[in-house]
Amino acid sequence: MSPRREILAEPGGAAPAPAEASAGVAARPVAAIAHEGELALEANLRPRSLDEFVGQQELRERLSIVLEAARRRGQSVDHLLFAGPPGLGKTTLAGIVAAEMRANLRITSGPALIRSGDVAAILTGLEEGDVLFIDEIHRLGRAVEEVLYPAMEDFQLDIVIGKGPTARSLRLDLPRFTLVGATTRTGLMTGPLRDRFGFVARLDHYSPPELEKIVVRSAQLLGVELQPDGAAEIAGRSRGTPRLAIRLLRRVRDFVEVRGTGVITYDTARAGLDQFGVDELGLDQLDRTILETLCIRFCGRPVGLSTLAVSVGEEPETVEDVYEPFLLKSGLVMRTPRGRVAAPAAYEHLGLPVPEEGAGPQSERGLVLPTLFDDERAS
Ligand SMILES: Nc1ncnc2c1ncn2[C@@H]1O[C@H](COP(=O)(O)OP(=O)(O)OP(=O)(O)O)[C@@H](O)[C@H]1O
Ligand SMILES: [Mg+2]
Repeated sequence: MSPRREILAEPGGAAPAPAEASAGVAARPVAAIAHEGELALEANLRPRSLDEFVGQQELRERLSIVLEAARRRGQSVDHLLFAGPPGLGKTTLAGIVAAEMRANLRITSGPALIRSGDVAAILTGLEEGDVLFIDEIHRLGRAVEEVLYPAMEDFQLDIVIGKGPTARSLRLDLPRFTLVGATTRTGLMTGPLRDRFGFVARLDHYSPPELEKIVVRSAQLLGVELQPDGAAEIAGRSRGTPRLAIRLLRRVRDFVEVRGTGVITYDTARAGLDQFGVDELGLDQLDRTILETLCIRFCGRPVGLSTLAVSVGEEPETVEDVYEPFLLKSGLVMRTPRGRVAAPAAYEHLGLPVPEEGAGPQSERGLVLPTLFDDERAS
């Protein structure tokens, strides 16, 4: 019988962290979290074996050793934890682990497991060797976690039957299963839970050549004609994230089907990406507005988070959690004790002259500065 794949409770894969959930943000073309309905589209493009999985070389080698060793011993694999930003391949890897082990894959997520009974019901339904995938495992409740500890460590389940003085505790043996957890926020996981994973892997952003391979592979699966420099152009604007590379590929495909000959070339890729407001660094309009605010409106002076957020018309949490990480990572913005400052690369990207080092605030050069908000003085 071939292995089964079963979704036990709505996977939380698409359930973004609260700040990313606000309507406009989740729909931006360069959001790393999945758009609504996108998970179903992605499913067809997911690599099914480790060989098909592009990039993450070290992780892949280590994982293949762990899987091969378990296969040789005829045992289930140790519990695995995949951590890293959205869209880098955690869910994909969970599917690959099950496929490589020819095991059933059962899928659930942290927010879907509310009571200890929810997880107990899932655990008792497992079969020997099954892979249980818990997405967003950092969002598990305390009570649920406590049921998981003995289940992960000793494959045992403690259940309490009844209430009050007549309550009895019962210990059940569970089949040996593999728990695969995925998290975008390792820092929010409790130590005891993290320690129960035998193998913890961090996924990093992908290099442009790796993303290019993913774009080429996805284009083949989608049946789109794609020239190599068109693939490079899409990869270069994908912010190191496969999910984005695939999404931008789809948008460019739409563009060339409607406005072109259906072939993605260097020129049509550029035109398509420009049309959807994604620039050469993968920034969208709001990213650029943030840079313009720092460079032009505040003349390169440090700006507090809430001032910056008000200036661009967003919530401070959204700026901090959604927009800022990529700007910081790409060296366009710096965080200083006095606030956010645009880096020289930001001026260059906007086509502005880079202020001279040590020239001091532009006010000293005769420019009128905007009024400071309170949080800037405080931060
Ligand atoms: N290494 C890879 N090679 C090829 N395709 C990949 C790779 N990593 C991710 N993808 C593709 O990118 C998309 C997103 O990947 P996936 O859903 O696994 O990300 P995730 O880390 O689980 O994201 P989230 O944190 O939002 O759940 C999928 O369509 C998948 O096919
Ligand atoms: Mg996922």
